Amino acid sequence: MDGNGRWAGSRGLPRTAGHTEGEENLARLVRVAVRRNIKWLTVFGFSTENWRRPRPEVRHILGLHEKLFGRVKELNELNVRIQWIGRPFDSPAARTPRYVQRAIRKAIADTADNTGMVLTVAFDYGGRSELVAAVEAARHSPDGVTVDSISEHLYMPELPPVDVLVRTSGERRVSNFLLWQSAGAAIYFTDAPWPDFDEYELDAALALPR
Ligand code: FPP
Repeated sequence: MDGNGRWAGSRGLPRTAGHTEGEENLARLVRVAVRRNIKWLTVFGFSTENWRRPRPEVRHILGLHEKLFGRVKELNELNVRIQWIGRPFDSPAARTPRYVQRAIRKAIADTADNTGMVLTVAFDYGGRSELVAAVEAARHSPDGVTVDSISEHLYMPELPPVDVLVRTSGERRVSNFLLWQSAGAAIYFTDAPWPDFDEYELDAALALPR
């Protein structure tokens, strides 16, 4: 969801205002995705590298995750099940504060019975870290390291292969997102910053040949 900072900067607003608008836009887009009958929507909310951002910005983004994971009533009305992928909270390098852990756990539990779209938020996520952990675990499986055993040890094995990967705000890189799952993905590039990514943008992404 790139371009929150640039969206804000072009309006003379602080970067944090862009992130706030980005969270609002995600809530709007979830509604659109449900109307379009999308079954799986996975968003990159916070990467393993994002901890290096200035502390006030990190705090603000963490607060927005608490807000998003707190939208349980809305998600239940939409029959959306929320999920999370990222470094396990108890891994040595993990830094997720307890209040975010709690919000994530509660949202997952409170939407667990929903049968519609699965919204997966990647938080403290890095594709390479995920693959290192999966390969390490796969080494101990009966068949050793194979495509199947790696797939079975990803953070969320049930996540299907990615059909369409979206990059907003003119970025033309994959940036360590779902590296394994995106092996066959079509990629939709747009110059629109994330807060401006609307239903027309989503439809253009879905219209890509797959
Ligand atoms: C990228 O824009 C955005 C982030 C790293 C922040 C995470 C996304 C949000 C806050 C949107 C809401 C989502 C959730 C899951 C709460 P950027 O800061 O890189 O902007 P720039 O590319 O213009 O600098």
